[in-house]
Amino acid sequence: YVLGIDLGTSAVKVSALNRNGQIIAQESADYDLIQPGPGYSEQNPEDWVSGTTAAIVRLIQHDHLTLKAITGISFSGQMHGLVLLDENNRVLRPAILWNDTRTTAQCKEIETLLGDSFIAITKNRPLEGFTLPKLLWVKENEPDIWAKAKTFLLPKDYVRFRMTGRLATDYSDATGTVLLDVAAGTWSKTICEKLHIPLSLCPPLIRSIDLAGNVTPSYAAFSGLTIGTKVFCGAADNAAGAIGTGILNSNRVLSSIGTSGVVLKYETNAETDYHGVLQFEDHAIPNKFYSMGVTLAAGYSLSWFQKTFAASESFADFITNAERSTVGANGLLFTPYIVGERAPYADASVRGSFIGIDGTHQRHDFVRAVLEGIIFSFRDIFAIYEENGSNFDTVVSTGGGSKSPLWLQIQADIFNRKVVSLKNEQGPGMGAAMIAAVGMGWFDSLQECTEQFIHFGKVYVPDSDHVKKYQQIYEIYRKVYARTKDISA
Ligand code: XUL
Repeated sequence: YVLGIDLGTSAVKVSALNRNGQIIAQESADYDLIQPGPGYSEQNPEDWVSGTTAAIVRLIQHDHLTLKAITGISFSGQMHGLVLLDENNRVLRPAILWNDTRTTAQCKEIETLLGDSFIAITKNRPLEGFTLPKLLWVKENEPDIWAKAKTFLLPKDYVRFRMTGRLATDYSDATGTVLLDVAAGTWSKTICEKLHIPLSLCPPLIRSIDLAGNVTPSYAAFSGLTIGTKVFCGAADNAAGAIGTGILNSNRVLSSIGTSGVVLKYETNAETDYHGVLQFEDHAIPNKFYSMGVTLAAGYSLSWFQKTFAASESFADFITNAERSTVGANGLLFTPYIVGERAPYADASVRGSFIGIDGTHQRHDFVRAVLEGIIFSFRDIFAIYEENGSNFDTVVSTGGGSKSPLWLQIQADIFNRKVVSLKNEQGPGMGAAMIAAVGMGWFDSLQECTEQFIHFGKVYVPDSDHVKKYQQIYEIYRKVYARTKDISA
């Protein structure tokens, strides 16, 4: 078996898979967020280690799992979080997480000092969530801690370090720091020099499928794993999620609806330039990349609407309501900017709207407008790909969007592409297990592993009448941002 460890923001999930990609056992453990100030979001790396270990301990108690049969382990990790270690590799302060927004001043500083060259090197704009601004924040605000800092790691790297005693990160998490020179595949000397960050803080870089170390005797005693079990480096959660949903060729794009929404595309060329409007990251496959646009309130828009206007209904009934409305929600349009937006508009202050409310509208029109508005915001990312000349014909839908046949059809009609869901959706944990499976040599490549591990469900095909109608409505949707962005009561 292999273990895929999905180190998330609220919990860690550990899955044991066999060579056929079947899940044999699964366990998880939760941990807390620490919010010591407005916009602050931290976690104790020790909580990740104890949560992961507790889940492993429970997992290997499953009767049908022969302990000795676990031969390889790998990771998917929440991205961008800063773990700072001293010269003895002890944690210096709580980790500052991806959803911590204290670093606006540091982002401005980076833009002022490096200008356009920053995007040219890192392929991304410096955003509050990324690691580099967090490093600068510690340097400027906690000089005593900064003086002791010897290495930084990303979250999954710290847990792996505790299992193996070896320090490393992989390229997919390294791009998320915005300290990597993406085309060169090395930490950027230019950025380190300009910002006075010692290059020696950056951990050794290895590939996702590379062996990062072996389970040490002390971790074996702690967890029950066998000494020497192979531990492969793993990947950032979005890269692992892309692997676990089969986004390993240019013909498929991911449409993922969680609290936030992600449109993610496989990229083969480091020279592709989205001018920082989309995130551009290294994939878990060497010299391959992915681009990504985030809608901040995707599933959140729908759960907000339900909680506010239909709290007594089950979620399934609530969505089914929308079937009583029509394509275009009888002329009602929703923009899902209810907590601001990240892409294509990096705008924390814009807010959402319902446009065209009519005295004949009923609640089911509002539900349908919310379902459609979320997909129009994804369509905005597709528009960037189209302007860039990209061609792809299949969209893989995961998360909330894949749980409703109506929502799957709305996606096919708005995207004007085939939409498929997965029969065995597991998200990033599946990607982590696949990395371990390839690391173990069970497959020659992640692509080959996909064929064994990933199974697609029903294909939803665009309906040409709906496509036409949605194209007209999308032209109106596109105008709403510019006309509402400065309006707030
Ligand atoms: C990506 C991002 C989130 C985290 C969640 O840039 O900030 O998706 O990876 O763990």
